[in-house]
Amino acid sequence: MTIEKVTAHAYPTKAFFVRMITRDISLEDCVLDLIDNSIDSAWSREGSHPMMLTDNTNLSGYKISIEASSERFVIRDNCGGMSLDTAADHAFSFGRNATADQEHYSIGVYGIGMKRAVFKLGANIKVRSTFKETNGNRLAFAVPIDVNQWLENNDPPWDFDIIEDDRLEEDGVEISVTELSASSESSLSSPAFLQNLRRTIARDYSLHLQRGLKISLNGEWISGWAIELRQSDEYQPMRELYEDEVNGDAVSIEIIGGMAAPPPEDIEPDESNEGDRRFGWYVVCNGRIVLAADKSSITGWGTDDWPQWHYQYAGFIGIILFTAANAAALPLTTTKRSVDTSSEVFRRARPKMRQVSKEWIAYTNQRKQALQEAKQKESEAVAVPIASVAARKSVNLPTFQTRTSEKMANIGYSVSAQRLRKLAQEFGNINMTYRDVGLKSFDYAYDDLVGVE
Ligand SMILES: Nc1ncnc2c1ncn2[C@@H]1O[C@H](COP(=O)(O)OP(=O)(O)OP(=O)(O)O)[C@@H](O)[C@H]1O
Ligand SMILES: [Mg+2]
Repeated sequence: MTIEKVTAHAYPTKAFFVRMITRDISLEDCVLDLIDNSIDSAWSREGSHPMMLTDNTNLSGYKISIEASSERFVIRDNCGGMSLDTAADHAFSFGRNATADQEHYSIGVYGIGMKRAVFKLGANIKVRSTFKETNGNRLAFAVPIDVNQWLENNDPPWDFDIIEDDRLEEDGVEISVTELSASSESSLSSPAFLQNLRRTIARDYSLHLQRGLKISLNGEWISGWAIELRQSDEYQPMRELYEDEVNGDAVSIEIIGGMAAPPPEDIEPDESNEGDRRFGWYVVCNGRIVLAADKSSITGWGTDDWPQWHYQYAGFIGIILFTAANAAALPLTTTKRSVDTSSEVFRRARPKMRQVSKEWIAYTNQRKQALQEAKQKESEAVAVPIASVAARKSVNLPTFQTRTSEKMANIGYSVSAQRLRKLAQEFGNINMTYRDVGLKSFDYAYDDLVGVE
C-alpha cells in the first residue's frame, strides 16, 4: 500500500500569534514588556554591562512616557530607537533567532514581548523609530500594522511594511495602539487598573528608578520604591555574592536579607497596614524585579521543613538578584512575572534563601521572651539602602534570655549515699547525678500526691 501524503503541515497560523500567545499574559504584564524593551535599549546605549546593585550607571537622561485611555495606548521613549536593520531582521519576527547575539545583560530574551503586547492591546498598531545611523544621520521609519487585514491571509511570507516617517523629537521608539480590544479598553479606562499599574511600575522598576530613569503614566512621574533594610550593632543584614553557571553561561547571584521593619504588634494582620505588601522575598533578573514580596512556595515558604508564611514573620525582606550576559540563563518565566522554579540556578539558590528566612523565623519566636527589650533594640536600627549593606555570610540578630515570672524554691538536704544509689537504680540509671535523683524523686512524689499537671 502506498500513502498519498508524506508530510504533515506544521506551519503556524497568524491567528495563533494574535489570539493564543496573548491569552496567558495580563495587560499589565504586556505594558511591562514594552517598558522592558525601552530599558534594554537604554542599557545597551550605556554599554550593556552587568546591572549589579553596586553599579552606579546614571539613567537620568532616559524617559519613558505612557499614555493610556479608553481610546488609545501610547508608549514613547528616548532610549536610542531601533535601527532599520533591527526592524527588518528580527524585531518583528516571532521568537528570537537562535543566532542572534544574546550577550546584552538584557531582560528581553524570547523575541515575543512587543508583538504579544501590541496584539493584546488592539488592532491598529504603529511602531515608530528614530535612530542615529553610524554616520550620525538621524533616520526615521514606521511599521504600521492593521491586524485584521494582516489576519486575512495566512500565506508566507509574513512581513510587515516599513515606511518612511517624520522624525520623533528625540531618538527613540513610539508605539501607539488604537482600535483597542474590549478588555484593554475597559482596563485602560479604569482608574483602579491605572493606579495598580503605577504601583507595579514603582515597585518592579525600583532599581532603575533609583538610578534616575524617568517613567510617567498619563503625565505623572512615578517615583520608585526604596528597598531598605535596618541596621545597627545587633541587627545586621546578610549579603553574599557568588557565581553559578547554566549551560556554560555565567550567572552572578547576590542574596541580601534581614529586618526591613520590626515584626508586627498584632497577631492578626491589620488590613490598613501596608506591611504585608512589602515583606517577603524579591527575585530580580538583570535588574528587573520579576517577583515581589513573595510569601509562596515559589520562594520556599511551606516547602520541605520551611514553614508557611505567617503574619508573625512580617518585617523580613530578602532579595535575590540574578545577573547574566545571556538572559536565557536567568530563571524567568515568559511573562516575566514569576520565577521558573525548574531552573537549576534558582534551585541551587533556595537553600541559601532558606537559611536567611529561618534565622528571621527563629528571631520572631524568641523575641517574644523579652518583647519590650526587643522593640527597643529594633527601633534603634536604622534603615539603609540595600546597595550599601556590607557583605556578611549570615544575618546577625540579637538573642534574648528566657524570663519567667514564677518564684522558684531551692531544695537542699543530705541522705545516705547507699540509699540514693538504690533509688537511682530504681529510676533506671544507677549512675544518675545526685541532682537528677533529687528532681526525679520530687516529680515522682508530686505526680503521686498532687497529680500530673
Ligand atoms: N523601545 C525599543 N527600543 C529599541 N529597540 C526595541 C524597542 N522595542 C523593541 N525593540 C527591538 O525589538 C526587538 C523585539 O522585541 P520583543 O519584546 O518582541 O522581544 P525581546 O525583547 O527580544 O524578547 P522578549 O520576548 O523576552 O521581550 C528587541 O529585541 C529590540 O531589538
Ligand atoms: Mg522584550
